[in-house]
Amino acid sequence: MSESGREWWRSAVFYQIYPRSFADADGDGMGDLPGITSRLGDLAELGVDAIWLSPFYLSPMHDAGYDVADFRQVDPRFGTLADARTLIEEVHRLGMRLIVDLVPNHTSDEHVWFTAALASPPGSRERARYLFRDGIGPAGDQPPNNWRSVFGGSAWTRVTEADGGHGQWYLHLFDSSQPDLNWSNREVHEEVLDVMRFWLDHGVDGFRVDVAHSLIKVDDLPDWHYPTEHHDPFATANEGGALPPMWDQEEVHEVYREWRRLLDSYDGDRIAVAEAWVFPYSRLARYSRPDELHQAFNFPYLETSWAAQEQRAVIDLSMKESGAVGAPVTWVLSNHDVIRHATRFGYPPHDPTAAGHAGISSRSPQPNTELGLLRARAATLVMLALPGSAYLYQGEELGLPEHTTLPDERRQDPTYVRTGGEMVGRDGCRVPIPWHGDAPSYGFGPAETSWLPQPAQWAALSRAAQTGVDGSTLELYRTALELRRSLGLGLGELTWAEGYDSFETIALHRPGGVLVIANLGEQPVAVPDGATVLVASAELIHTDAGLAVPTDVTVWLGVSS
Ligand code: NOJ
Repeated sequence: MSESGREWWRSAVFYQIYPRSFADADGDGMGDLPGITSRLGDLAELGVDAIWLSPFYLSPMHDAGYDVADFRQVDPRFGTLADARTLIEEVHRLGMRLIVDLVPNHTSDEHVWFTAALASPPGSRERARYLFRDGIGPAGDQPPNNWRSVFGGSAWTRVTEADGGHGQWYLHLFDSSQPDLNWSNREVHEEVLDVMRFWLDHGVDGFRVDVAHSLIKVDDLPDWHYPTEHHDPFATANEGGALPPMWDQEEVHEVYREWRRLLDSYDGDRIAVAEAWVFPYSRLARYSRPDELHQAFNFPYLETSWAAQEQRAVIDLSMKESGAVGAPVTWVLSNHDVIRHATRFGYPPHDPTAAGHAGISSRSPQPNTELGLLRARAATLVMLALPGSAYLYQGEELGLPEHTTLPDERRQDPTYVRTGGEMVGRDGCRVPIPWHGDAPSYGFGPAETSWLPQPAQWAALSRAAQTGVDGSTLELYRTALELRRSLGLGLGELTWAEGYDSFETIALHRPGGVLVIANLGEQPVAVPDGATVLVASAELIHTDAGLAVPTDVTVWLGVSS
């Protein structure tokens, strides 16, 4: 649908595939494109509208593929360009759309541009594609400024010049294997536009833009007075209210205006979604203004605790701020960078283990997994009832928790190494997903093992074990997605239901006579007389006063409108 206000992406449910952990066809223990293609039918049947595919490009894999060595080639571990073409065709044949990751802030240090930069002298055209600077001090042995890498440690690495001497430093806001590109250089703009054309010509429906708020840095790269000693790399203002010189600069919006013109020049309603850890929401919404990107991930929502007042407030804020720029809200609870929501909600609200980005290890306080899953199912049912677009992360439809006891020696996230283990990182949410309980690596692939080990308890969570099972998380997602589509819940107004103010609830009306009640309090909440239950995240209970929604359960009800 491309009628203004009803375009496909305004209400679409996206499913994020993290290629190394979805399905392994060739048996090397790592997922691949043919594996994904073989499982697309399962996603169509689940009822999602679109897929977001994380990077599958040529990469030395120091950051799981977010360190791209060639944006136009498929990494051989994942397959070939022909496999990518088959995948795109098959997604479309099944009536879904596909967006792919675009990583414009940095390349891999194995990208031909960077190897050329290292072989060229300071001041050369090759160096001008990146952010090379001389060091501070007589010997130039201090980094040019105090910026920190998001993954820990300094954001600068010193190079050895071609003549063997110590040389300049280059900026990397992430790992040292991910040098930042210089977006003051027009050549960089042209190259990324060309990469976009390459994939658009291959038929993709758009892009998920990696760290969309990072491309432009304040010209002279000034020191930054970090807000707290606590590691919060994406904090957008310090105590004095100053904005950081490496994030969310005004000029980045010019970049997106140009990208929008490119996307609009293609037929078929191609889109882009910003991954921007920008707060407050009013600044985030600016990335999805009508002449910029189409959507921005709603991380304020993702970071909200399972507490009624906070949930209601963030829903209101999201609707208001995205509404003000004419963009759909983009609801999201999990992705490959955060602790899975079935685990986050297994900690008390605001618990630092779940709230931070540090990851969970066997040394951390462990979650209440049963409670986490109960709340995750309830939260998902709220999310899927909200107007706008929604993003699911592979495995959440199985109720997968984080792997919270991964052996340290198996960890691969650069965060673990760069912080000396202080932050264990994101591997726990990236474990390959289980398809069959009784097959090697739970049907992830033919190999006995997978690149990250799967927990022993995952047989019961496999797709096969949940298919057709009443009350399973998989069937809950399937039912909710079907109802969401048939009732048109992705579009239309949301009104808060009256009469629930004294309860710890999220209670709202959707068009077509749908009343959603989520009970986050301790007392049961009565189901109104005459209402029919459309779907519930867990069993409802019978009280003296009639049917009721118990604690940590969400229900969609049909009521006369
Ligand atoms: C955000 C991606 O989601 C994350 O996985 C990656 O490590 C960084 N950007 C750097 O590309």
